[in-house]
Amino acid sequence: MKLLTPKTQAFDSWIRSDFVQLNDELETLYFEQEDKSNVAGIGDDIKQQLEREGRDLIKELLAEGNTDQGFDSAFDLLGNVGLYMAACRRHEITEPSRETQSPLVEASALAMHIGASIGVTPRFATAHLTTHNSAQNGIYKRFTSLKDEKLFLDFNTRGILAYKRAADALLKIQPLGISHPISHDLLVTCQKALQEVIDSNAILFERLDATRFFYCVRPYYKPYRVGSQVFRGANAGDFAGINVIDMQLGLCMANDPNYSQLLVDKFLYMMPEDQTLLRDCMRRESIMNDFLIAKDCSDQDWYQANLKQFLIACELHGETANQHHEQLVNKYITQPSTDLSQAHLKTVTASGPPLAALLSGLEKLKDKRMANERSDILTRFEDLNSLKASLK
Ligand code: HEM
Repeated sequence: MKLLTPKTQAFDSWIRSDFVQLNDELETLYFEQEDKSNVAGIGDDIKQQLEREGRDLIKELLAEGNTDQGFDSAFDLLGNVGLYMAACRRHEITEPSRETQSPLVEASALAMHIGASIGVTPRFATAHLTTHNSAQNGIYKRFTSLKDEKLFLDFNTRGILAYKRAADALLKIQPLGISHPISHDLLVTCQKALQEVIDSNAILFERLDATRFFYCVRPYYKPYRVGSQVFRGANAGDFAGINVIDMQLGLCMANDPNYSQLLVDKFLYMMPEDQTLLRDCMRRESIMNDFLIAKDCSDQDWYQANLKQFLIACELHGETANQHHEQLVNKYITQPSTDLSQAHLKTVTASGPPLAALLSGLEKLKDKRMANERSDILTRFEDLNSLKASLK
């Protein structure tokens, strides 16, 4: 990476120090209230300090203009501006339903300039906090110093990297074909990586405190306005690997409108290399379809050996989705939401839709990944059963 300009460096240092401290102070004040979701009228002087200090640093950067420090520093700076804007949203210094334009004029201008020039959404994305979040002296960027935020991010990063390993293995099968002996090894590699997602999610589920997560971590992931447009919140799914697995296994299909809508919506939330990967993958045939086409080879040893591993990989992918839905989403979103008043409830989800709609969307995804039988949406229930029946 090229050296940061002094102004970029000053903003980065603020994001890693005073910004965290101000957020911490506000979180302490909110959390000691009986209604922990209230932020109105609490710590107003701290909120003003946060807005002012960030704005002053950003003004300098905007005036500096395009210094062409390369993709990595541009992406990193966009993340810092995004963290500032997301914190302003969390503390209701800005509120998209109250405004038609973001009052953070300079931050919006800088975010739009960078986002448009590098081909990503002009807000902070999951990659900024997980896979592309550089640590200094062991500490990577976060909103607060709360241990539950660190836990959440550590395990999001682990989960994402494990999914990426599974996706990489599946992509390597394409040029070899399903009958190749090494495709067997690659399916086993994919299974191991998916098992690592399961193990990592299980630890997160055991250790993450639901109250802390719900009231002090999740609110930083709400949608916010950049300029005039509202951008949905970041979520751990904003990388290509998860969809590469869906489509390479064949459990989800790019020509299924229910699923392709999700793909279309997430493109700009991913790193450019992930966007390319996903586009490429949308044009490929799935391993499941290759096995269905090869069913007349079911008495061959390769078919029996490789299909067996393929079916285990599908099973494990379904299990990760089930775990996400029934454990993580249920414990950390659905359950605590039942305690909230209607006024606060509409601001719970990162993507913006009401909770019931969000849950139904996630449930559909889970059922596709588990190949469950459903009459209202497309799943591979029958195809997978016919493949299972061809196993000796
Ligand atoms: C999306 C909750 C951890 C993978 C979502 C969404 C919610 C959610 C509510 C829907 C997006 C939205 O809010 O608008 C949670 C909670 C977690 C958690 C409460 C832990 C406390 C993880 C982890 C992973 C993960 C560790 C693993 C990488 C995904 C994926 C999506 C997603 C892939 C996109 C939708 C999909 O393709 O399934 N999550 N999540 N999540 N999350 Fe999580």
